[in-house]
Amino acid sequence: MLKLVQSSLIMLAVILPGLANAETILITGSNRGIGLGLAEAYAERGWRVIATARSPERADELNALDAKYDNLTVDELDVTDDSEIAALAVQYEGTPIDVLLNNAGVLGDVEKQNAQNIDYDEIKFIMDVNVYGPMKMAKAFLPHVAASKQKKILTMTSGLGSMALTQRLGRFYGYRMSKAAVNMAMRAMHADLKGEGYVIGLIAPGQVQTELLFASGFRGPGSITVDESVAGLLTVIDGVNAETVGLPVNYDGQAIPW
Ligand SMILES: NC(=O)c1ccc[n+]([C@@H]2O[C@H](COP(=O)([O-])OP(=O)(O)OC[C@H]3O[C@@H](n4cnc5c(N)ncnc54)[C@H](OP(=O)(O)O)[C@@H]3O)[C@@H](O)[C@H]2O)c1
Repeated sequence: MLKLVQSSLIMLAVILPGLANAETILITGSNRGIGLGLAEAYAERGWRVIATARSPERADELNALDAKYDNLTVDELDVTDDSEIAALAVQYEGTPIDVLLNNAGVLGDVEKQNAQNIDYDEIKFIMDVNVYGPMKMAKAFLPHVAASKQKKILTMTSGLGSMALTQRLGRFYGYRMSKAAVNMAMRAMHADLKGEGYVIGLIAPGQVQTELLFASGFRGPGSITVDESVAGLLTVIDGVNAETVGLPVNYDGQAIPW
């Protein structure tokens, strides 16, 4: 028994100093899709990963990562729930977070956001998740990000939020509005806080084969796997800094026009 306790303590001593020096990322919506891929990739890199999900009890793939990696923890978080956001910020008080990654997002019901049918309750729901969620997270976690080395707050946007790219095909009004709005919110926040060393930017994953893409009806050529998107996003996230932050950057390094 004594031997077991001793070896556990030695293991902890080996793991904890490593984790104390490791960079930390907090990812929202990490139970599936791109968020899950990013959580695994950062855990594999040796970062400390705070992987959040609305319903951890149903997040089987994420829980499997939790079991596999000592440097990944799973926490419950609905980005529309103010009390959960506040509680998580308190739980991690004093923990520097190098990258806060606002990944969670919803497409909404595509039949409720077109010229024939506009459901404003649906649009409000999309805005709650895709716009106010990232804004609330950014505000709540500013102290954690401020205490880190990289000081990055990055939000997943989409080419569908680009005015310049919205020429031939419309639809997805609520989703498009939400991504354009979050672009502006984060741009304004960066303008306010860049003097304090924060890097508040926008990234995009490409057309990725996830539930969100399938629900949109897009399945065509040009779509990529989660692994392909994540590989590109890691480079993009590494590369965003005070000098380069500006237009949203796609997973392949291309800038997306406003
Ligand atoms: N796939 C694409 O082609 C594409 C293109 C451009 C941008 N994006 C953006 O990339 C991000 C990830 O999308 P994805 O393709 O990976 O979609 P996905 O597979 O549908 O995953 C969406 C994730 O967001 C979570 N989520 C939804 N509402 C939430 C809430 N209120 N609080 C916390 N988490 C919530 C989901 O959790 P639950 O499982 O609990 O619902 C899920 O983990 C989104 O911001 C999306 O807009 C995707």
